[in-house]
Amino acid sequence: MASVPSLLVFYVFLFPHVSVKAVTKNSNNITEGSPLSTNANNNSWSSPSGLFAFGFYPQGDGYAVGIWLANQTGRIIVWTANRDDPPVSSNATLELTRNGVVLHQTDQQGKEIVITDDISSPAATSAAMLDDGNFQLLNASHHVLWQSFDYPTDTILGGQILLSSHQLASSKSTSDQSSGPFLLIMQNDGNLVSYPANISSGPETAYWASGSFGIRVAELSLNHSGFLLLQQSPKRPLRTLSKGDPGENKNVIYRATLDDDGIFRLYSHNFRSNTSSRVKVMWSSLQDHCEVKGLCGLNSYCQTFSNNFDCFCYPGFVRIDPRNKFSGCYQNFTLVNCRDDEDNPWLRYNFTSVKNMSWGDNPYTVQLLEEAACRSSCLQDCNCWAVLYTSNSCRKFNFPLRYGKRNLNISETALFKIVLENIVTPNHSRPVPENHGAMLIESKNNTIVTLALSLGSVACLCFLFAISSFIVYKHRYRRYAKLLENAHLGLTEDFSLQSFSYNELERATNGFNEEIGKGTFGAVYRGILSESGNKAIAVKRLEKVVEEGVREFRAEMTTIGRTHHRNLVQLLGFCIEGSKKLLVYEFMSNGSLADRLFKAASPPTWRERMRFVLDVARGIFYLHEECGVHIIHCNLKPQNILLDDTWTAKISDFGLARLLMPNQAKASMGLQGTSIGYFAPEWQKNAMISVKSDIYSFGVVLLEIICCRRNIEVNVSTPDEITLSQWVYTCFQAGELSKLVRDDDEVDFPTLERMIKVGLWCIQDDPTLRPLMKDVILMLEGTLVIPVPPSPELVIVP
Ligand SMILES: *[C@@H]1O[C@H](CO)[C@@H](O)[C@H](O)[C@H]1NC(C)=O
Ligand SMILES: *[C@@H]1O[C@H](CO)[C@@H](O)[C@H](O)[C@H]1NC(C)=O
Ligand SMILES: *[C@@H]1O[C@H](CO)[C@@H](O)[C@H](O)[C@H]1NC(C)=O
Ligand SMILES: *[C@@H]1O[C@H](CO)[C@@H](O)[C@H](O)[C@H]1NC(C)=O
Ligand SMILES: *[C@@H]1O[C@H](CO)[C@@H](O)[C@H](O)[C@H]1NC(C)=O
Ligand SMILES: *[C@@H]1O[C@H](CO)[C@@H](O)[C@H](O)[C@H]1NC(C)=O
Ligand SMILES: *[C@@H]1O[C@H](CO)[C@@H](O)[C@H](O)[C@H]1NC(C)=O
Ligand SMILES: *[C@@H]1O[C@H](CO)[C@@H](O)[C@H](O)[C@H]1NC(C)=O
Ligand SMILES: *[C@@H]1O[C@H](CO)[C@@H](O)[C@H](O)[C@H]1NC(C)=O
Ligand SMILES: *[C@@H]1O[C@H](CO)[C@@H](O)[C@H](O)[C@H]1NC(C)=O
Ligand SMILES: *[C@@H]1O[C@H](CO)[C@@H](O)[C@H](O)[C@H]1NC(C)=O
Ligand SMILES: *[C@@H]1O[C@H](CO)[C@@H](O)[C@H](O)[C@H]1NC(C)=O
Repeated sequence: MASVPSLLVFYVFLFPHVSVKAVTKNSNNITEGSPLSTNANNNSWSSPSGLFAFGFYPQGDGYAVGIWLANQTGRIIVWTANRDDPPVSSNATLELTRNGVVLHQTDQQGKEIVITDDISSPAATSAAMLDDGNFQLLNASHHVLWQSFDYPTDTILGGQILLSSHQLASSKSTSDQSSGPFLLIMQNDGNLVSYPANISSGPETAYWASGSFGIRVAELSLNHSGFLLLQQSPKRPLRTLSKGDPGENKNVIYRATLDDDGIFRLYSHNFRSNTSSRVKVMWSSLQDHCEVKGLCGLNSYCQTFSNNFDCFCYPGFVRIDPRNKFSGCYQNFTLVNCRDDEDNPWLRYNFTSVKNMSWGDNPYTVQLLEEAACRSSCLQDCNCWAVLYTSNSCRKFNFPLRYGKRNLNISETALFKIVLENIVTPNHSRPVPENHGAMLIESKNNTIVTLALSLGSVACLCFLFAISSFIVYKHRYRRYAKLLENAHLGLTEDFSLQSFSYNELERATNGFNEEIGKGTFGAVYRGILSESGNKAIAVKRLEKVVEEGVREFRAEMTTIGRTHHRNLVQLLGFCIEGSKKLLVYEFMSNGSLADRLFKAASPPTWRERMRFVLDVARGIFYLHEECGVHIIHCNLKPQNILLDDTWTAKISDFGLARLLMPNQAKASMGLQGTSIGYFAPEWQKNAMISVKSDIYSFGVVLLEIICCRRNIEVNVSTPDEITLSQWVYTCFQAGELSKLVRDDDEVDFPTLERMIKVGLWCIQDDPTLRPLMKDVILMLEGTLVIPVPPSPELVIVP
């Protein structure tokens, strides 16, 4: 610090455009007893260069405390203390004390807040605003007790690091620094991922990822020359997101911010040049705004035009706040009297179609129908308000819909059910139809129905209609919430999922005595339910799952409990007591497919193998397309496929992937030895996981079943054979499929070739090339002609 005076001279020389007054007035050695006020000439402590300052800046109708990068015309806030607290009044002061920097609010009974919280020993003697934008608190021996670089908000600066498991949260807007709707998380699996905030983060809600998954632990670093890197430590860079300008340029400040539009951008600020090129975007995570999930509100969709974008309401909807395009949309009419068995629904409804549209929710049902049949199926279904239609697949949706977007690359066409004018009800004098609540979905404890019915009188309803559309929206919103809740919970009775107590299960498993397996989610125990006629059960004890509420957990279980298929292991019930979560499944007496294929004394016969392949395919098809909620398995492998007493293959562990912690999901599944090789390449490349990822795993499993060996086998005669998928392709190309099924007379070669071709299509690196499960089944059965598959590996042109 002895060099401070010479540094000052140096900086003054380097930054000729910056006010020099600030430097003389505020030394960067801040000592006790020099308070700041909100008054403009005494509101901050500046860095020696004058580029950064710590102090009060105006926010809303008051002030906030933060650090900013000052330029000639304004300031760019790079850090804010307690960003979600309300602004402080002009009476507030900031002072350095032994405990840290303290904010006094005289108008709030002298309330004091220590801005620099968490310091271990209250012995601060000085503070320093450094030239890289870091504000530090030091003790008498110049030891750093606290620094703003350790608590990033939406920005990291040159020299700053975003540690593993830390995150940036966007600001609401450039003028409101409180937490906004987007997150950038440095996951502890090494992947840097963007999610909408307040949504359970998982692969399906991520909208951008660095794709560096599998590195285990990494941190995001921005150095003084503008290199934005993922690194294991400063000496071990793993991936470069942006190459800066080699060599350190003291005139340039780099700043990487998760902007209020959800895009992560790296900026350079050149304080030497006074042209318009002073601020440059060096890199950005996405080019297309519409890729950002949650940018447009509920029931609206995003569309990009050259350099701009806009949010539009779906047909039949109007904006909640006409002045705010992000506010989302609501249906501005009340619908009465919908019955599924209506005689002439087309007299009441019509469809508006919008081409090239998609959105992020799962349909409540999928049917294989021609377009005309799809329309009429939706017409006769009171739940159906929108349909996404592509070549024969009719996916039905209810509102609200999230993450809508429209662009020419999307092949789906959306159909929206429109209510024709004559039966729309804002006609106030119209008598209330008797079954007014019918539209609100049959639900026993629907408070809204009860409310609406008990209001009874027409007058009340007229009053309701008369109040502002915003209230109507809120009402609807609650109803949406209700509908969603019912969609998850209302079916418990229908499917008789049993709720067990922990004691019951402890008794049934004889104190968790006989462990029959250990999977991704925890150990599995064998048990006997003596109450139900000594029925054998398998009890899975969930560990490492998201701490979520009882209601959410029940909802998840109900979703899984609703799946009934010959090729899926049936969930019988569950137990949730405090942190203890257990699942009860039917017991599979013949162990796993992995044991049968790789460990049995006599391998399964050809016919048996064919049956396994079709069993697994049908189970996946059901999960992907037939059951109410689309389920992506995410962890399909022979260990998760079980055999019942008739040797029917049944898939287990489905629907559980979303219970894992977001940043643990991939880590715990991906790094688990037995899963390696079944994961689609996109798990490594980025976070966008789809049904096609399961198709990949299915392809690997299929080849394993056919060839009766593991995907990776080290004990082989030639190195070519180590990886099954590569070896299969080699044999396929050379026309030597018989090599794959040595000494097996039973094999039917045309079937073998068909199976191998399907397998090779499924394991294509490019997810778009992999077939959907329904086509897989048609191909396996020989009903669909199978083109010759290309090499599974993407040819990467350097
Ligand atoms: C700041 O100034 C005080 C007194 O002027 C001095 O004791 C202290 O060492 C200085 N701290 C630094 C970091 O230069
Ligand atoms: C700044 O304002 C505070 C409160 O008004 C005052 O106590 C302090 O002395 C002022 N500091 C300077 C350097 O003027
Ligand atoms: C200065 O800061 C203001 C406020 O953030 C910004 O709008 C402006 O573009 C900046 N100008 C320069 C030249 O950096
Ligand atoms: C400042 O504080 C005084 C008393 O402490 C109070 O009367 C006054 O209203 C406050 N001003 C503001 C703007 O809060
Ligand atoms: C400053 O903090 C460091 C680390 O906590 C400690 O070792 C040192 O003794 C402290 N110095 C003083 C003067 O308190
Ligand atoms: C997230 O949820 C919290 C609590 O429900 C709410 O206060 C906050 O405004 C929400 N944030 C966003 C960005 O929606
Ligand atoms: C920033 O990182 C890059 C790449 O690791 C390196 O070449 C460069 O020297 C670094 N710059 C500084 C100022 O550390
Ligand atoms: C910067 O601006 C000043 C006055 O606006 C002008 O005289 C000077 O030539 C400019 N310098 C550069 C490098 O453009
Ligand atoms: C709904 O909004 C549309 C478009 O803004 C408007 O034409 C129509 O009259 C509205 N309907 C009702 C019932 O408010
Ligand atoms: C339904 O919409 C189509 C296309 O917009 C239109 O041709 C048809 O007349 C409409 N039907 C009714 C009953 O309004
Ligand atoms: C459509 O796809 C092409 C080629 O993949 C791509 O270059 C283009 O940016 C995409 N357009 C949109 C709007 O996503
Ligand atoms: C988008 O819509 C246009 C117009 O209907 C259509 O020609 C095009 O094929 C659609 N794009 C895709 C990818 O299907």
